[in-house]
Amino acid sequence: MHIAALHQPSQVQLNQQGNLKHFLTIEGLSKESLTKILDTAQSFLDENNNLINRPLLEGLTVMNLFFENSTRTRTTFEAAAKRLSANVLNIDIARSSTSKGETLRDTLWNLEAMAADIFVVRHSSSGAAHFIAKDVCPNVAIINAGDGRHAHPTQAMLDMLTIRRETKKPFEQLSVAIIGDIKHSRVARSNVAALQTLGCKDIRVIAPNTLLPVGFNEYGEHVRLFNQMNGGVTDCDVIIALRIQNERIDSPALASQSEFYKMYGLNKERLALAKPDCIVMHPGPMNRGVEIDSSVADGDQSVILKQVTNGIAVRMAVLALAMQGQLQEQGLIEAISL
Ligand code: NCD
Repeated sequence: MHIAALHQPSQVQLNQQGNLKHFLTIEGLSKESLTKILDTAQSFLDENNNLINRPLLEGLTVMNLFFENSTRTRTTFEAAAKRLSANVLNIDIARSSTSKGETLRDTLWNLEAMAADIFVVRHSSSGAAHFIAKDVCPNVAIINAGDGRHAHPTQAMLDMLTIRRETKKPFEQLSVAIIGDIKHSRVARSNVAALQTLGCKDIRVIAPNTLLPVGFNEYGEHVRLFNQMNGGVTDCDVIIALRIQNERIDSPALASQSEFYKMYGLNKERLALAKPDCIVMHPGPMNRGVEIDSSVADGDQSVILKQVTNGIAVRMAVLALAMQGQLQEQGLIEAISL
């Protein structure tokens, strides 16, 4: 292997046995690795969708480091860590010494010295979690909870778990549409990568050209672009609506939110073009009346709140697997048995 390849996020996140020791990105992980995350997550849910607690991380410390706002992701990581019996510390970054000029490196080294075992990191800069895993704290398991426009791998895995549980069809047979602000969305990127790896052959990206990344072909195989809703959602099994990310739009990419709703808003009429059992997903937070109509968000086909519950199961799985891989790397494998 070329030495540069060892520093790719996909290599940094695996230990010598090929197991996760950090979870930074979907890219570079095999179908088996993703399936292992899904199966482990599934083991934390009973047949009635209730979460099952397991004290796998007893005595270990998870620190939530959110340099960017979050409700669902931060809270579900906290819930997941507690259900695994870990100690959880939510670091209040806005009030921490980074605001007094301390470097990120120094802040992290201090937190590591407080006996952190896992950092859950959200940051507005793409590559932040990778930088911490590679250069700052390689012996702490780093979980990427969203970095800039780059990746949101636990969101992708909770979406995959939701698709697997709710459609009950193999990924190879599914048509999945992702609608909206693709350009600014780390969720779109990670979801496309996860769907491709899991074998989905029909991935449709629906967006106006102004909300697509420059040189759109970067998404690769089995991905088709639609500029119109009607062709895009026809006969789909899964529709994922994305939020218009106003905070990441530096130049006006949209005429107006009402114009977007008129052209791309997911309403009942458009949903009726998909398969009758098509499920509707959204990572949240939702802009009702912009990317999705309330009648659809709250309708029978919506699985948006199930995504949130599945998010706890997936985050439990990722925390336990990465910690297991990190301990395996350090020669302490017997510590966690899944
Ligand atoms: C997403 C995020 O932060 O990237 N939300 C989430 O994690 N629940 C999507 C978004 O902010 O639109």
